[in-house]
Amino acid sequence: MSSTRFPEGFVWGVSTSAYQIEGANAVDGRGPSIWDSFSDSRDACDHYHRYPEDVRLMKELGLGAYRFSVSWPRVMPEGAGRVNAAGLGFYDRLVDELLTAGITPYVTLYHWDLPQALEDRGGWPERDTALRFADYARVVHERLGDRVGTWFTLNEPWVAAFLGYGAGIHAPGRRSAADAFRAAHHLLLGHGLAADALRSAGAREIGAVLNFGPVMTPGQVIGSARELSEEDAAAVARIDELMHGQFLEPLTRGRYPDRVVELAGTDHVRDGDLELISGPLDLLGVNYYAPTVVQAQPSEPADPAYPGSDGILFCTVPTAVTAMGWPIVPGALTLLLDRLTREHPGLELMITENGADFADTVTGDGIRDMDRIHFIEEHLRALRTSVERGARVRGYLVWSLLDNHEWADGYQRKFGLVHVDFATQKRRMKDSALWYRDVVRRNGLGGDRPRRPTLETVAARAGVSRATVSRVVNGEASVSPEVRAGVLRAVRELGYVPNAAARSLVTRRTDAIALVLAVPRQGGDALTAAVVQYVTSVLEGAGKQVTLMLADTAESHRRILERVETGLLDGVVLLPPDGPDPLAERLARTGTPVVLLGKPAVASLVPYVDVDNAGGAAAATEHLLRQGRRRIGVICGPTDLVAVQDRLTGHREALERAGLRPHLALAGHTRESGAEALTRLLAEDDRLDAVFATGDQLAIGALRAAAAAGRRVPADLAVVGFDDIDAASATTPPLSTVRTPVTDQAMALARLLLSRLEGRHAGSVVLPARLVVRGSSA
Ligand code: FCB
Repeated sequence: MSSTRFPEGFVWGVSTSAYQIEGANAVDGRGPSIWDSFSDSRDACDHYHRYPEDVRLMKELGLGAYRFSVSWPRVMPEGAGRVNAAGLGFYDRLVDELLTAGITPYVTLYHWDLPQALEDRGGWPERDTALRFADYARVVHERLGDRVGTWFTLNEPWVAAFLGYGAGIHAPGRRSAADAFRAAHHLLLGHGLAADALRSAGAREIGAVLNFGPVMTPGQVIGSARELSEEDAAAVARIDELMHGQFLEPLTRGRYPDRVVELAGTDHVRDGDLELISGPLDLLGVNYYAPTVVQAQPSEPADPAYPGSDGILFCTVPTAVTAMGWPIVPGALTLLLDRLTREHPGLELMITENGADFADTVTGDGIRDMDRIHFIEEHLRALRTSVERGARVRGYLVWSLLDNHEWADGYQRKFGLVHVDFATQKRRMKDSALWYRDVVRRNGLGGDRPRRPTLETVAARAGVSRATVSRVVNGEASVSPEVRAGVLRAVRELGYVPNAAARSLVTRRTDAIALVLAVPRQGGDALTAAVVQYVTSVLEGAGKQVTLMLADTAESHRRILERVETGLLDGVVLLPPDGPDPLAERLARTGTPVVLLGKPAVASLVPYVDVDNAGGAAAATEHLLRQGRRRIGVICGPTDLVAVQDRLTGHREALERAGLRPHLALAGHTRESGAEALTRLLAEDDRLDAVFATGDQLAIGALRAAAAAGRRVPADLAVVGFDDIDAASATTPPLSTVRTPVTDQAMALARLLLSRLEGRHAGSVVLPARLVVRGSSA
């Protein structure tokens, strides 16, 4: 197998689902489904009538497999009892059409469109629904079983149960954790009963499709490798159990994870259920779009989609995202497949969904969707890596063949390889479809990676210089109307400019903001996560498009500056690195509004948001003085950090006011270095009675060293830190510290940029830092 080819016989195809494409909701006796009343899918893609054309498209693409779902209410309009022959007839014709085209059908029996009649009788929280599902499965198999070999019972039962019955953002829109857990079990039971029925009826292979969103911390996603804190590791494990273990464990090992049992109880689980659910599984369908990014955050309330998730924050991460806002992390697919292979070595896998929502550029001679090509290409590389390492993956199905009705989001989402004009139902292959056809033909990727159009490509196409293209994109008047028109045509045809920026060609405003995250940044994970989250939501709420960009190399600095200079960005929120930062000043010189998190090292005109580091340190020191402590040491983090310098200044000034002088031990960032620093301080002054550390990690290390030296905290030695990180309240005794308002900083940053965008000269913001007294200095 060459480095870009897949194993012989690898299956290539696409996936769809009934409700999202069929339309014809009230045609030929179809009954209502829970989604009919929850969203308006109108005629969707009218695949019900246009399936011959859609099969023809798949044939042109050379696909070997098509995964579609059967609509339960089309086959059994009341969910139980009466069978609608016309409905079954449609799938019969579809299967024949596929087989004639040489395409293997993969049938999903339940892709979320529960008959409304069954919901009226209680839906999935009721056990009876599982029994009715098995009846329905039998009916479909009876009709199609002679030609369909592979049967997926369920699609993404976690989504059906927890978004439908827990969070209420999918049909039927209920919000009850208890109902969601019951629904999950009955979906699994439905799988077990249907699998059993189909197997007895002679079905060749049976599988289930699960959604996988590998659970990671922001640090793991952006690859700043470090060991997870205990709290973060626990947060990851909890979400992983709810989303994956809750389904995978019963299916493959006949048991629920302990935590799920704790949360859900077992009243609804009867003897024999788990044996049924864990019957043979021939194929596991893996749907992968994006990782689930979390970190521990004690004050966070539970997310109703994940009952029991209090204390866990779902984070936005500084990676590229799709139009859906889902982070693009192909490497997580490799991790996922490696893990499944390790933990379930016998199980055959198939990527049953992977794809992305991106805005396409529709032109007279084609539909440009380079982002989608890149997305699929990168995920195929990730998949290829796992296959090479031994993952048993039968095939890869793109979500989706057509632009379609994306559930609660409606028609705005574009996941198709094929563009659909919903007014005319006209289908047109996008560039990604043609590209995928080549992948299928070659059974792998081409040697050359598809290239994104650059300024050079546009210039070559329009027959002008790079500078001219740049001038046109900048909206400069010095270009003749003919040249301008030619450049704009090339831009459009190549799909060169991203959507927000394309608008700027007309309005000269992009409404695009970059949130630039420099790395490395020390000790501010929670703050970074909050800034990413709040800045994004405030600015998006104000109609801006926020792009997250990493500034970690000279090349990335160049790219960011180029985007600002060519007018593709209206503003920048910059989270600078530790130490000197040339980017802020260079950005400021472009005249584009820029705001900074944290006071810059060198005095600058760029406005920033910071906390009152000096004031916080002074408050901590005065608190120690008020207790009568006089032999106070200070453990000081890296002094090239402006925040550390300010904290040291605040401490020194407070001491001076009391007629004392600082007693300093220098340290780094870690607990170990805090411990070492305290040991040094004690060696220098055996009667030291208090210590202030410029960061909580250092203070936690100091607590450890104090205990090791036999000092009682706070009786012999009081300890105060700074930052109020999550671990501060969990030490023994709990650590006194200075709290910096995380959310307020993030909000202030967003507001500051908005005022700047409106042309107001809002200045820097310094927020108060408040002393939190706990046991270590009480
Ligand atoms: C999956 C669903 C599929 C589609 C994609 C985008 O969770 O199975 O129907 O909505 O997401």
